[in-house]
Amino acid sequence: MIRFSIVVLAASLAAGAAAAGPAGDPARGEELYQACTDCHSLDKNDVGPRHRGVYGRKAGSLPDYPYSDALKSSNIVWNEETLDKWLTDPQ
Ligand code: HEC
Repeated sequence: MIRFSIVVLAASLAAGAAAAGPAGDPARGEELYQACTDCHSLDKNDVGPRHRGVYGRKAGSLPDYPYSDALKSSNIVWNEETLDKWLTDPQ
């Protein structure tokens, strides 16, 4: 009976871990974002557009940033998939 309980516990722990999905790592994100701050900040347009709220925003949609026509007319919404593509090769 004890052995059965351990098996059930192990199985439910594994299922719980899978359901939670991959955990984010804010420290690593902060480190990687340093490379973006040459051109971007959260709240001010710089070489690139400000980033606060960019996740879920339509690409090229800030009214006060002079985007390229390509980005303005791209009809992209920024999510995990589109950001991944963009950051792989912005050109
Ligand atoms: C060399 C300068 C530069 C760097 C470094 C840079 N960007 Fe950009 N980024 C830009 C420019 C310029 C644009 C506007 C492009 C356009 O209008 O086509 C932009 C646009 C974007 C957009 C679209 C924003 C919107 O409002 O639609 C995202 C998202 C973005 N950058 C993310 C990043 C991230 C994340 C990093 C770091 C990994 C990064 N950028 C690094 C210059 C840069």
